[in-house]
Amino acid sequence: MPIGIIGAGAIGQALTRRLVAAGQQVWISNSRGPDSLQSLSRALGPTLIPATVPDAAAQEIVILAVPWRQLPAAVKAADVDDWSGRIVIDTTNPLGPPDFKAADLGGRTSSEVVADLVPGASLVKAFNTLTPGVLGADPRTPAGRRVIFLSGNDAGANDRVARLIQHAGWAPIDLGALSSGGRLQQFPGGPLPTLNLLRET
Ligand SMILES: NC(=O)c1ccc[n+]([C@@H]2O[C@H](COP(=O)([O-])OP(=O)(O)OC[C@H]3O[C@@H](n4cnc5c(N)ncnc54)[C@H](OP(=O)(O)O)[C@@H]3O)[C@@H](O)[C@H]2O)c1
Repeated sequence: MPIGIIGAGAIGQALTRRLVAAGQQVWISNSRGPDSLQSLSRALGPTLIPATVPDAAAQEIVILAVPWRQLPAAVKAADVDDWSGRIVIDTTNPLGPPDFKAADLGGRTSSEVVADLVPGASLVKAFNTLTPGVLGADPRTPAGRRVIFLSGNDAGANDRVARLIQHAGWAPIDLGALSSGGRLQQFPGGPLPTLNLLRET
């Protein structure tokens, strides 16, 4: 199943490396256009396709990997009115440049706020608790597989993302709904960010 990524910075590239290594076709995009991603594609091979934001957003699974304040513009650039039928994986945390002040979410979890930007999509929060260096490293270690937490309100979508995570070599842990599981993953504030766990296989 092809995957689109919006955002080709530290997190977008770390995930790209793991997904391409697992044999996935990945459509990767950024704010500067596909030409700026040619050298990454040459380095990682033909299953990495430099794309426009709308082309990345057209894939069945779309990963959002842009800074919090750029999210509305990036989603707007995707030019999608109805995200129905797509799974959107939210890697974002509600703070970032220029001041790294935590956003006021009005008591909601950040992924509930992001879900409003992609109406109709099944939104799954994942990959937001580890650094790019940890995420980009081989998840299979002699002591076990690196744990990736996920949460979302559509159990079927959670299951599909869990299978993708497993296929790429990580060990998924599904925490349930965004209002509860997402709160555990929340950064800042939740207990799970930075926790780098391995699960014995
Ligand atoms: N870094 C971490 O330790 C870490 C850990 C967990 C989660 N996160 C979260 O992951 C997200 C990405 O962080 P990052 O560190 O990967 O950021 P980053 O290295 O600054 O990369 C951001 C990417 O977003 C792209 N972008 C910005 N505005 C865009 C737009 N309007 N349309 C399309 N693409 C746009 C940028 O495009 P250009 O390349 O063209 O500028 C860049 O490729 C953030 O929400 C962050 O909170 C980060």
